[in-house]
Amino acid sequence: MTTYRTRHGGTLRSEDIGREVQLAGWVARRRDHGGVAFMDLRDASGIVQVVVNPEKAPASPEVLRSLRSEFCISVTGMVRARPEGTTNPDMATGEVEVAVAGLDVLSPAEVLPFQLDDRFDADEARRLKYRYLDLRRERMAANLRARSTAIRAMRHVLDDREFLEVETPTLVVSTPEGARDMLVPSRLRPGQFYALPQSPQLFKQLLMVAGVERYYQIARCYRDEDFRSDRQVEFTQLDLEGSFWDQDDVLDTLEAIASGVVKDVRDIEISRPIPRMTYDDALAMYGTDKPDVRFGMEIRKLDNIFAQSEFRAFTGTLADGGTVRGFNAGPQELSRAGFDKLTEDARELGAKGLIWMVVEDDGSVRSPVAKFLSDEELAGVVAALDAASGDTLLIVADEFRTAVTGLGQLRLDLGQPGNHDELEFLFIVDFPVFEPTADGGLAPAHHPFTAPLDVDEMRNSPETAVSRSYDMVLNGAELGSGSVRIHDPEVQGQVFEILGISKEQAEARFGWFMEALRYGTPPHAGFAIGVDRFVSILQNEQNIREVMPFPKTQTGADPLTGAPGRVEEEQLEELGVDVRPEVKAAWLEPPGNA
Ligand code: AMO
Ligand code: AMP
Repeated sequence: MTTYRTRHGGTLRSEDIGREVQLAGWVARRRDHGGVAFMDLRDASGIVQVVVNPEKAPASPEVLRSLRSEFCISVTGMVRARPEGTTNPDMATGEVEVAVAGLDVLSPAEVLPFQLDDRFDADEARRLKYRYLDLRRERMAANLRARSTAIRAMRHVLDDREFLEVETPTLVVSTPEGARDMLVPSRLRPGQFYALPQSPQLFKQLLMVAGVERYYQIARCYRDEDFRSDRQVEFTQLDLEGSFWDQDDVLDTLEAIASGVVKDVRDIEISRPIPRMTYDDALAMYGTDKPDVRFGMEIRKLDNIFAQSEFRAFTGTLADGGTVRGFNAGPQELSRAGFDKLTEDARELGAKGLIWMVVEDDGSVRSPVAKFLSDEELAGVVAALDAASGDTLLIVADEFRTAVTGLGQLRLDLGQPGNHDELEFLFIVDFPVFEPTADGGLAPAHHPFTAPLDVDEMRNSPETAVSRSYDMVLNGAELGSGSVRIHDPEVQGQVFEILGISKEQAEARFGWFMEALRYGTPPHAGFAIGVDRFVSILQNEQNIREVMPFPKTQTGADPLTGAPGRVEEEQLEELGVDVRPEVKAAWLEPPGNA
C-alpha cells in the first residue's frame, strides 16, 4: 500500500491466515507472557494483536524492552490463527494475530500525560491540552469519522439536488443576530473592526438576489456567548437557501438530509414524514419549543375541572387569568422527600407551587391536597390525564407560560430521556415573529429577516403575530432553524421599525442590504443545521465538544495552543488599538506566557 505497510491491521481476518504482511501503527497495549510480548497494534482501521517472541529475535532486546504505549512502530510478519481458547469475539480481528518477524520503531513516545484507554475519563483540560492524544482514543476517532460521514451525506443529498456550494466571507460587518460579535481589528483601517459572522445569513440572501437558486455551505460561525454543553463560540452550520421556495420546499430538503445522514452514520431509516407541530401546541403540550417526543407525558389543561373548586390556589389563579395544567408522569414511586424535592424544583423554575397526586390500587387518589378537592375534581383529573393505578400526576396553577415551562422541565427530569436511544425528529412551525424583551420591547424570535405570515397582522399586533419560521428538533434538542425571508424592502423596513430601529439607523447599518432587495429579489427561504449538535446526538455524546476536533473550554480558551493570547505592543500600535491601563495592570506576565 505504502512504503510503510501492505495492509491496515484492523482489516485482517481469518481469510488472511498464512499471509505475510507489513503493518504500521501505534502500540495500544502491551502484555508480556513468558518472555513473549503481546501487543495491540492500532491504526486508523482498528486494532490487531501482534506477537513478538524474542527467541525469534525480530528486534534487539533493548528495543523490545523500550517499547511502550503509543510508540509508533512498523512490523512485518505472518498472519496466523490465534491458538484455541485465545480468540476474542469482541474484536473484529479477534481470530488472528501477527507473528512478528521484523520490527522498526518509527517514533518513540514519552510517558503519556493520561491513559488513552476509553474506560478512563481524563480531566477535561488535560484532554484538550493533549487533544492530539485524546483523538487517538477509539471513541474520539469514531466521533471524527461520524462527523466526516455526516458532512459527506449532507453534500451528497444537496449535490443530487443541484445545490451550489458557495463560500462566504468570514471577515464581515457586524449584523444583529442576537449574540455578541467576535471582532477583528483592521490594520489598513486602524481603529475599525471586522466582525466574524454569526452565520452567513445576509450573504446567502445576497446570493439569492445574485441568481444562485440553490445554495449551501458547511459554514463556520462565531458567537461570543456563554458556553453550554450545546454551545461553543466557534461552531459549524450546514447553511442552505433556495429561491422561489416556500416552507415546504425547505422542510422537504431537510427531511432528505436528516434521512441521508442518519442512514450513513447510524445505518437506520428514520420514520417519514417527519411530523410537524405548531409552536403553540409544542408550548402547551411540552412546555418548550423543542419537545422531546420519545416519551409521552403530555401536559393537559385542567381549567374546567377546577372552575368551581374550593381550593384557593387553583381558583385564585384562574380568577387572575392563569391556568391549571398537569401531566401524568406514569409510575414513579417517589417518596415523600422525592415529592418535596420536585416541589422545590418547581418553585425554582418559577412556579408558585406543585400539587402531586398518586392513584392508589383501589382507584382513590393520594395527595397532600386531596382533602381540599371534591371527588368529582379528583376523578376529573384522573380521567383528563388518562391515569391508571400507580401513576403519579403533577399539577401547577400559574400564569400560562410559567405553568407549562415548569411542568415541561419536570417532565424532562422524570421522563429519563437518557434511557431512550431512538431518534425522533420533529418540525416546529408557526413561531411568533417577535418575543418580548426584559425591558418591555420586542426582539426577533428568529432573526429580523424572517417573513411574517401576514404583514397586516404583524403591523397591527406585533406581540402575537405569527412568522413563517420553523425549527428542526431531534430528541428534544434544537438542531436547526430557518424561515421564509422578507424579500420586500418595505416590509423589511417595517420590521426594523417595530424593533425600534429608526429609518436612519437601519439605513446606516443595513442600507447595503436593503438596497440589494430593490433589484428584483426572488422570494426565498432557507435553514441552518447545527452540525456539531447533530453529530453529537447521533454519537450519543452529551457535549458538542466531543465531536469537535479542537474545541474550546468553558472559558473560551484552547489549552493546547494557549489561545486567546496577548500580542506584542507593536501589533496593537499598527492596529490603532490600545489595551486599557487597568486591564494591563492586571496582567501578571509578559505576552506568550499567559
Ligand atoms: P440559528 O441562530 O438558529 O439560525 O442557528 C442555527 C443552528 O446553529 C446551531 N448553533 C450552535 N451550535 C453550537 N454552538 C453555538 N453557539 C450555536 N448557535 C447556534 C444550532 C442552531 O439551531 N442564519 C440562521 C439560519 C437561517 O435562518 O437560515 C441561523 O443562524 O443547532
Ligand atoms: P401553600 O398554600 O402555599 O402552603 O401550598 C399548599 C400546596 O399547594 C403546596 O403543596 C404547594 O406546592 C401547592 N401550591 C400552591 N400554589 C400552587 C400553584 N399555583 N400551583 C400548584 N400548586 C400550588
